[in-house]
Amino acid sequence: FTEDCRTAMYPPSGPTFRGAVRWYTVDLDLPPSKRWAPLIAERKNDVRPLMADTLPSPFGEEIKGIADASGVPLGEVVLFNIFYEVFTVCTSVVAEDIFLPFHIHRQPPSCWDVKNKSWTISEKLKPLVVNLDFKKNNQTVFKSTNFAGYVGMLTGIKPHMFTLTMNERFSLDGGYIGILEWILGQRDGMWMSFLTRTVLEKANSYEEAKKLLAETKLLAPAYFILGGNQTGQGCIITRSRTLSIDVLEIDPKLDRWYVLETNYDHWKEPFFLDDRRTPAMRCMNQTTQTNISVSTLYDMLSTKPMLNKLTTYTTLMQVSEGKLESYIRDCPNPCMPW
Ligand SMILES: *[C@@H]1O[C@H](CO)[C@@H](O)[C@H](O)[C@H]1NC(C)=O
Ligand SMILES: *[C@@H]1O[C@H](CO)[C@@H](O)[C@H](O)[C@H]1NC(C)=O
Ligand SMILES: *[C@@H]1O[C@H](CO)[C@@H](O)[C@H](O)[C@H]1NC(C)=O
Ligand SMILES: *[C@@H]1O[C@H](CO)[C@@H](O)[C@H](O)[C@H]1NC(C)=O
Ligand SMILES: *[C@@H]1O[C@H](CO)[C@@H](O)[C@H](O)[C@H]1NC(C)=O
Repeated sequence: FTEDCRTAMYPPSGPTFRGAVRWYTVDLDLPPSKRWAPLIAERKNDVRPLMADTLPSPFGEEIKGIADASGVPLGEVVLFNIFYEVFTVCTSVVAEDIFLPFHIHRQPPSCWDVKNKSWTISEKLKPLVVNLDFKKNNQTVFKSTNFAGYVGMLTGIKPHMFTLTMNERFSLDGGYIGILEWILGQRDGMWMSFLTRTVLEKANSYEEAKKLLAETKLLAPAYFILGGNQTGQGCIITRSRTLSIDVLEIDPKLDRWYVLETNYDHWKEPFFLDDRRTPAMRCMNQTTQTNISVSTLYDMLSTKPMLNKLTTYTTLMQVSEGKLESYIRDCPNPCMPW
């Protein structure tokens, strides 16, 4: 199921391209309760189908139970449960000189539609993908690709300064347990995707972003993939809840001109049924540093198994131009479920 590295896929078209992602402005000068109203009003018919009633059994009922027991509004518990789990399995790369983290977001294997050969949640999420332009004083502060209704951030750019992505890190010390403990008030720490957003909003350099991402206490483990605006600024920060366990940086001296993260610690082998790392590196190596661009990265991300049935969208960012572009993806059969 690994295919030859794709070429000439960009600009996006054809059966793997469902459409461009729409842009919305989020005005940070408005009070927080008003900022999302225009977007949600326009997209409410896409947002509604994702509420608790549509979650597969027994999760919908369990989540309602947690909401009842904790007194936390149901909507919040749903979001907390699905968003981290659902949205954060992806592949990210920062390449020297252009710093392009990119992302293939994937969903949980809870509801494979046999007849349609697709993930039902993945299909429901595609209409929710939006690009956001966060402004203050009518000026862009940062941009992100998000799901309508989600206020955290998985991937975004602070133009001319840095690009940032979060990936899920599976660990015993995290996921549902951490989240449940947080709801029950037994755990402190920050939501991973809220840290991503805070860093995009507040940090004013690559170094400042790196420090915040490495040192802020979290609710669950995560990977942060950060790219800067200077040669040599690109890293993967592997986080436990409390610590930065490892920082892998671009290093021209070691011929390491890119760093690449799927969902496994980079010093360990990926799970054998989900090795997107080896084929992704093969395509990166084949492309060479000289030829790396938005277009060749899109090619790599259009190659199976980097493109698979869980792929919701592909985002490409270029820090020096302050550019973020996202495309909703399909993976026509034959295509791996993940
Ligand atoms: C299969 O997908 C189509 C289009 O995406 C959808 O209209 C249809 O309801 C799906 N079938 C099932 C059984 O979910
Ligand atoms: C905001 O900026 C845009 C151009 O970037 C301009 O057309 C618009 O008038 C500005 N709005 C305000 C309220 O300043
Ligand atoms: C890179 O970011 C720093 C802030 O960290 C900024 O001062 C500098 O102007 C930026 N360089 C470029 C080329 O945009
Ligand atoms: C890609 O190149 C790097 C650096 O030269 C090397 O360590 C890695 O093994 C190569 N991977 C593949 C899959 O070709
Ligand atoms: C890099 O791009 C150039 C110009 O498009 C092309 O001629 C060359 O074959 C490419 N090199 C590789 C290794 O793909």
